[in-house]
Amino acid sequence: MKRISIKTSSPYEVLIERGSIKKCGEYISAVTKSRKAAIITDDIVNKLYSETVVNSLEKSGFECSVFVFPNGEQSKSLSVLGQIFHFLCDSNITRSDILIALGGGVVGDITGFAAACFLRGVDFVQIPTTLLAQVDSSVGGKTAVDIPDGKNLVGAFKQPALVICDSDTLKTLTPDILSCGMAEVIKYGMIRDEKLFELVENHNLENVDEIMDEIVYTCIDIKRDVVENDEFDRGERMILNFGHTLGHAIEGWHNYTDYTHGMGVSVGMCLITDKFAPHLSERLKKCVLAYKLPTETEAPVKELLPYCSKDKKRESDNISYIVCETVGKAEIRRTSVKEFERIMGE
Ligand code: GLY
Repeated sequence: MKRISIKTSSPYEVLIERGSIKKCGEYISAVTKSRKAAIITDDIVNKLYSETVVNSLEKSGFECSVFVFPNGEQSKSLSVLGQIFHFLCDSNITRSDILIALGGGVVGDITGFAAACFLRGVDFVQIPTTLLAQVDSSVGGKTAVDIPDGKNLVGAFKQPALVICDSDTLKTLTPDILSCGMAEVIKYGMIRDEKLFELVENHNLENVDEIMDEIVYTCIDIKRDVVENDEFDRGERMILNFGHTLGHAIEGWHNYTDYTHGMGVSVGMCLITDKFAPHLSERLKKCVLAYKLPTETEAPVKELLPYCSKDKKRESDNISYIVCETVGKAEIRRTSVKEFERIMGE
């Protein structure tokens, strides 16, 4: 097993081990005195892993309840959050008990936000089962729900008590969900680690499993470093948003339905690189294409810009965006929303 210690305001460990989901009860016992756990998951992950998780927790003496909501971004809503609060009340969850996010990014984000708000704060554990959640969203404490005005606009920083990453769970992912996670992996290579980028560009969607353990460990370690330096996203952490300003806009343009987050990030990275680092465009595009990710969008840039001006990275009339002029090095640039729109619209 590999362990990565995250030294944030509330420190915790990420455990990386194939098969760890079957031993989660043992690991979770070590971070809570409670023996009552509320598992939050979606209908797809529920069928695959809830029984394993409940069995392991029960073996360690936990009393478990499970709340299941429909898979997909549409569930990351205030309405599902309200249902989770009712479920936690019905299950008699108290402040000393524990919530468990079992699933991908949507499950982790909404469960984390519920944990931040319910009874003004309850501990929670992340068991990420998608690549995107393992390498990015389960670590770092960003939690949120979407509102009709935009993605992740209502949320809180709430660090988990533990993250359990079992890369065996990635074997059940459909190719498009695996691709989606690879967009974040490529992002990590672009912003911080040319060696990681090289490793990834020398593989593809069919053989990436060979390097999965190395990918997961390296991305989490990069995230650890960035988050420890800037837990509350006031500076350096913004580099994790490479490709995301336009990516979120593209997802929004598609109503968060037929377009995955990874597809949006992939196109977002390509568009910003075309504009500000065209010498890297061909290399980046070759890499994303190897993971069956798109390099362009049918959405006219002009129609994406109104979504960008609602971006969380906006401050007053200025917007921050991330540029990688060299693979492995990211730069935060700031400009007025108007100027950003002008440059991107050219
Ligand atoms: N996913 C970006 C961040 O955690 O800051």
